[in-house]
Amino acid sequence: MTDPHRPEADARPAAVLRGLGTFLPPRVVTNHELSERMDTSDEWIRTRTGIRERYWVEPGTATGDLAVEAGARALKSAGVDTVDAVVLATTTPDHPCPATAPWVAARLGLGRVPAYDIAAVCAGFVYALANAAGLILAGVADRVLVIGAETYSSILDPADRNTAVIFGDGAGAVVLEAGRADEPGALLGFDLGSDGGQHDLIAIPGGGSRQRSGGNPPDPAGSYFTMQGKRVFVQAVTSMGGSSRALLERLGWAGDTVDRLVGHQANVRILHAVADDLGIDRERAIVNLDRVGNTSAASIPLALADAAAAGDLRPGERVLLTAFGGGLAWGSTALVWPDINPNRHHPTRPERWTP
Ligand code: ACO
Repeated sequence: MTDPHRPEADARPAAVLRGLGTFLPPRVVTNHELSERMDTSDEWIRTRTGIRERYWVEPGTATGDLAVEAGARALKSAGVDTVDAVVLATTTPDHPCPATAPWVAARLGLGRVPAYDIAAVCAGFVYALANAAGLILAGVADRVLVIGAETYSSILDPADRNTAVIFGDGAGAVVLEAGRADEPGALLGFDLGSDGGQHDLIAIPGGGSRQRSGGNPPDPAGSYFTMQGKRVFVQAVTSMGGSSRALLERLGWAGDTVDRLVGHQANVRILHAVADDLGIDRERAIVNLDRVGNTSAASIPLALADAAAAGDLRPGERVLLTAFGGGLAWGSTALVWPDINPNRHHPTRPERWTP
């Protein structure tokens, strides 16, 4: 009988995960701290979302700063100091223009490589992986640094309990390299989708050309992140479930052969509902949102690194990644976990995997 965890020989070219690095800023913001500032409670946040604490940057720290830290750690984890391209997923760029990635590439000493941002909100990291894999398969690049970095604390309305308790800051990055489909770490396929008909469910209404061209004076309130949580919840479950199922069918992976479900860390109830939908035991769903909150485009790499550090993600295991966010946009990919040493900077936890 063939071992479902050992792919048949498959010489097709693929983008292969070679390194993983993460960075969280030093300031921990607990549910208790938030409950002193707004009408909420640790009990409500924990039971409705699963979140206990999150990290927010100190004044003066921007997304690019976190991206540089995570990117440097991913390069170190992969044992390389050059790449052919940098793709950065973020909803909170340093500036509306230019993109954040070129400055990050320059600060990492990566030279004059192509570097650009991807805007797919919480699905951004999976979109960026697909984009980087495309560069590799098209022969444009042999090695790509893919970063997901966010400073949501900069776009949250501090008085809005619907959003301020959910989101955290942080960054994660991977190095992808040209390889073969039968290597551990090979990204085995993608399912991506969007539904712009529901663009208003997650939005920063102001600050863009829609507002400016309307001749309306800038409204500071319009620069805050807004989310219709209940409707987003339903869409998150159905979109991540549907996207994952489409990918698993294409790969010929039954749900119960998936060792680890690494879903976008928005809400533990969403992760469990997606696991149930796919026939994956809830214990196989990786959860680190209790410690970091929803970090949007940084969520998937932060979850991967924390799971690997905790021994919950081991070489040879089948891993399904799925994410969902504003747009609406969603995406999934899958891989067999490779033997890599993630390089984490987690201010309040030991860095067991730092080489
Ligand atoms: N503390 C206390 N009470 C609160 C809080 C809070 N922080 N927030 C809302 N409430 C209250 C509401 O006012 C409401 O009170 P009412 O019944 O008197 O009207 C009650 O709690 C229930 O509110 P809901 O919004 O219905 O709460 P729900 O159970 O849906 O949880 C949540 C809200 C956590 C936001 C949930 O809907 C959710 O997780 N949604 C999905 C978020 C997500 O998946 N995001 C991913 C994409 S994000 C991106 O792309 C950037």
